[in-house]
Amino acid sequence: MSNIEQEINKRRTFAIISHPDAGKTTLTEKFLLYGGAINLAGSVKGKATARHAVSDWMEIEKERGISVTSSVLQFNYDGYCINILDTPGHQDFSEDTYRTLMAADSAVMVIDGAKGVEPQTRKLFKVCGMRGIPIFTFINKMDRDANDTFELLDEIEKELGIATCPINWPIGCGKVFKGVYDRQKREVVTYSDTEKGTKEGETSIISIDDEDKVTAAIGEERKSILFDEIELLDGASAEYDLDAIQSGKLTPVFFGSALTNFGVEIFLQYFLKMTTTPLPRKSGDNMIDPVKNDFSAFVFKIQANMNKAHRDRIAFMRICSGKYDANMEVKHVQGGKTMRLSRPQQIMADERKILDEAYGGDIIGVFDPGIFSIGDTLCMPKDNIKYEGIPTFAPEHFARVRQIDTMKRKQFIKGVTQIAQEGAIQIFQEYNTGMEEIIVGVVGVLQFEVLKYRLENEYNVEIRLEPLPYEHIRWIVSYDTELDKIVGTSDMKKIKDLKDRPLLLFINEWSVGMTLDRNKGLELSEFGT
Ligand code: G4P
Repeated sequence: MSNIEQEINKRRTFAIISHPDAGKTTLTEKFLLYGGAINLAGSVKGKATARHAVSDWMEIEKERGISVTSSVLQFNYDGYCINILDTPGHQDFSEDTYRTLMAADSAVMVIDGAKGVEPQTRKLFKVCGMRGIPIFTFINKMDRDANDTFELLDEIEKELGIATCPINWPIGCGKVFKGVYDRQKREVVTYSDTEKGTKEGETSIISIDDEDKVTAAIGEERKSILFDEIELLDGASAEYDLDAIQSGKLTPVFFGSALTNFGVEIFLQYFLKMTTTPLPRKSGDNMIDPVKNDFSAFVFKIQANMNKAHRDRIAFMRICSGKYDANMEVKHVQGGKTMRLSRPQQIMADERKILDEAYGGDIIGVFDPGIFSIGDTLCMPKDNIKYEGIPTFAPEHFARVRQIDTMKRKQFIKGVTQIAQEGAIQIFQEYNTGMEEIIVGVVGVLQFEVLKYRLENEYNVEIRLEPLPYEHIRWIVSYDTELDKIVGTSDMKKIKDLKDRPLLLFINEWSVGMTLDRNKGLELSEFGT
């Protein structure tokens, strides 16, 4: 096996998704702890403070102590080279959160055992589903009182429409959380109390057939509950099926507690075995193989002004195949030019590292003099690869935007257009009047602030944002009649994008359904192309 093949085969690139506060950061820290990347969890991504100290990114980020970008963490564990893509949540939830999922080969979904499926998880899940990537569920906070375990599984199946297969099973929860039962190995794994943030706690492993020992470890009552539950599970839950997992049809479910480290390493070990090596990607009618093909990559995110002194932009790209060597000449397919990627970097949560080489599965950040767009392909000059574009995700917040000083019309249009090209916002026009009125759509409301801040600081234009009540946007896939004849609800608004394609805005989901009912042959989509 060649060195490149070895390097690519040991890579596992996944995104970690959750509703805010479910425990994504804590779980990531524990992964790093096992990988030896840090000694004591908590030191890498301590919420606001650590990020302040190291990041010279946008002022807004500093002021609010939040990260506007998603970051990448790379570490080694048990012979694997793992890339974790963090997806921004909270107020900084944005289209980037979705785009990050386009760069991952699988997703780990963290769910709070006491809360079950929450809105943000649902949205992210939809995007994973669209790509059919494997999804692994970690039900967290079992050290606290959690919902009924069977009900949690039911909720995932119903709400997210995916079959579940528990790989381990919790033994109690809250104060009586004793550990987990590993269904494949048929072993009870109990944990002694671990100190918060270390991996030193003792575990003991007992075969389920050794009933006396199991009773001694977890008590008679818990043992008999466990035995009943195992029987129920074996009869009722979906069977373990690796193909179904890898095609995103079945989610393996794990229980544990990131905070106290219960069940984290078992999860990591199974996850690494079940998730895939870097997946082939589609270019036209061909599948580009990560190992057989030479270097290729696509841009999934552009971050502006990460360092104000240099007014630079960084294009984040996912390497899809082959090896990248420093200073190698590559072709930027959409620009039709060959170029050298200057100073490729790996952007970690707390540092930037200049890279000499990187492989299929890795994420690199490259200085962008303003030539890249989201979805662009890079490959070797001899090759003809063009990856499918990244879809446009439905914004959920809309505002009419006007410049305060009418003399600054030109800068204003230039500013909003450029910021929209970077993919931070989407801009639309009134259906009939055109560019005089601009409507901005964003996935997360923070993007409005980013827009205002950047127009003032970079383009010297002050703006006024007038929020609009719409929350649902639909691209029109097909319709039989003329657009003017579409019979909508009273809250429906027609707009168009910069390519003059018509779109519909609605205040509520119900109106979307009504409009579909009233117009035979009308097909709407939540994703643009
Ligand atoms: P997020 O990235 O998904 O937003 O969640 P994060 O890890 O920041 O966790 C949110 C809160 O939940 C934190 O508490 C964290 O300590 C706690 N938590 C995470 N995993 C577990 C778990 O397994 N059990 C319990 N009981 N709590 C857990 P916080 O008080 O908001 O923050 P902190 O002061 O502890 O950092």
